[in-house]
Amino acid sequence: MNIQWYPGHMTKAKRAMQEDIKLIDLIIELVDARVPLSSRNPDIDRLGQGKARLILLNKSDMADERYSDLWAAYFKSRGYHVVKVNSRTGAGLKQINAAVQEACREKIERDRKRGILNRPVRAMVVGIPNVGKSTFINSFAGKACAKTGNKPGVTKGNQWIRLSKTLELLDTPGILWPRFEDQQVGLRLAFIGSINDEILQKEELAAELIRFLEQSYPKALTDRYGAELLSEEDSSREGLQKAYGVLERIARARGCLLKGSGLDISKAASLLLDDFRSGRLGRITLELPPEKEQEN
Ligand code: G4P
Repeated sequence: MNIQWYPGHMTKAKRAMQEDIKLIDLIIELVDARVPLSSRNPDIDRLGQGKARLILLNKSDMADERYSDLWAAYFKSRGYHVVKVNSRTGAGLKQINAAVQEACREKIERDRKRGILNRPVRAMVVGIPNVGKSTFINSFAGKACAKTGNKPGVTKGNQWIRLSKTLELLDTPGILWPRFEDQQVGLRLAFIGSINDEILQKEELAAELIRFLEQSYPKALTDRYGAELLSEEDSSREGLQKAYGVLERIARARGCLLKGSGLDISKAASLLLDDFRSGRLGRITLELPPEKEQEN
């Protein structure tokens, strides 16, 4: 994945979305359950003002279940409807229809009072790159769903996918950008592989990941790379330096060696990032809802 956002792109994307949002009742916002805040767009709340809101905690198969529940409660307490999903397997998708009805209850009621019956809810999927928008649309809409064709008033090129009598989905998702300017956000998005590894050197990225895991998921590291991984031999080193020590031991444990002699730290860094991104380190959530973070 190679994201190259620059202001021109962002402005264009935002403008297109503002137009699309006029056509819909409900915003289905995908976030990555491992980084539910960092994978949100900072402007979405302003863009979506007045619309019903449904947040999907996608990739919930990769996130720590305890924390996904906390995140669901966090968003619900702020007025969003929330469903945990795995768009790859389809787990959780069945709950979406009920959540849509619930999220749009006021609109459906308003329609009913005006004598409009059975007008489908119109929804649009939005999210930052790589959060799983296409995967979600494909598995939610399925192959059987026919497009409803262009309708007057619909932005050129936009098509509606009729999902049921009660729900139509705009076929193209809205792509938004994350909060790049926040370093922590950049780091977390780099951990999950959503932005270029070049943002940080791979080794530094791996060391930062170790630093996080050592604190929050030490067992994930020792289960995978050996019980001695976090031994006290690093007591003289601190912070990132200590994490580099752990990376060296991963290199040793996994036989990442340079041709002549010495450890291939770069290979060990790739190995760790790969293990994390493919779920081999287990289900890991990288950030907690703000008030929980303060408690820790
Ligand atoms: P986007 O449209 O928002 O940019 O994202 P896209 O659907 O292309 O998904 C990005 C990657 O995330 C894909 O993996 C996709 O399979 C994966 N993905 C989407 N939803 C889920 C989910 O709920 N759980 C898990 N574990 N993965 C999910 P990829 O490796 O880039 O592609 P591929 O190997 O699936 O082809």
